[in-house]
Amino acid sequence: MNITNKTVLITGANRGIGKALVDEALRRGAKRVYAGTRGALQTADERVTPLTMDVTSISQIKRAADEVDSLDVLINNAGIAIYDDLSNLEVIEKHLAVNFLGSLKVTHTFLPLLRRSQGAIVNNLSLVALAALPVIPAYSISKAAAFNMTQSLRALLASQGVTVRAVVLGPIDTDMNRGFEIPKASPESAAVGIFDGLEKGEEDIFPDPASQSMAEAWRAGAVKALEHQFAAFAPDSAARVG
Ligand SMILES: NC(=O)c1ccc[n+]([C@@H]2O[C@H](COP(=O)([O-])OP(=O)(O)OC[C@H]3O[C@@H](n4cnc5c(N)ncnc54)[C@H](OP(=O)(O)O)[C@@H]3O)[C@@H](O)[C@H]2O)c1
Repeated sequence: MNITNKTVLITGANRGIGKALVDEALRRGAKRVYAGTRGALQTADERVTPLTMDVTSISQIKRAADEVDSLDVLINNAGIAIYDDLSNLEVIEKHLAVNFLGSLKVTHTFLPLLRRSQGAIVNNLSLVALAALPVIPAYSISKAAAFNMTQSLRALLASQGVTVRAVVLGPIDTDMNRGFEIPKASPESAAVGIFDGLEKGEEDIFPDPASQSMAEAWRAGAVKALEHQFAAFAPDSAARVG
């Protein structure tokens, strides 16, 4: 899929990777970029339409959807990460509400438009979806859930012409991991990697040096083979999704 002249919606678009994705979509010639944010957004580019959208609020998501006529690409990017040790259930619930259920709610709401355009869903996940990072276990669980959801949606929506992609991000230099002193890629380079992967048609996108180092092994690995084997059980018509 080429981004030129396409309509793209990005959640969590006011800072970090989301903001870089807005800029990169514009650079690639997107016709319209819907920038989902919780607060107000100032933008100089007339191709950007701000949408007020807390991804945990069905009413806000539906109100935002009323402003969108057509959509080619939905990028579920909004996310939270809180350090924890699994001792506080509220912290786990918060992660699931944003990182897992938030993405699913937004996906359900915009799916009719994506079916019509034969579009793509891009879920920004993390290396910790594949193996837990024990300083952020609740976050890891929520990203693992979102990854598993991505696999099911991919299989269920294939017959409807909607592709579903996982972005397996490594550490990126944003507010989310300030203070965690490890090598990090820039949000701008991650945004380039994400759109490159989408344009190349990759179902799992590894957009930064840390994630790229495991892309080949992942694609040839047992888990990927099992996903393909299980996908054969998806019913042809997934009318229940959305
Ligand atoms: N940075 C990394 O190293 C890294 C690594 C792997 C994966 N990721 C994933 O990449 C995505 C973007 O992360 P980032 O690093 O850019 O994080 P960030 O700089 O902390 O930005 C998070 C974005 O999500 C928005 N957000 C949070 N809760 C929301 C909600 N309930 N509804 C709508 N928007 C909400 C924030 O909006 P406000 O400004 O209103 O808070 C902000 O725009 C996330 O899904 C994250 O898990 C990041």
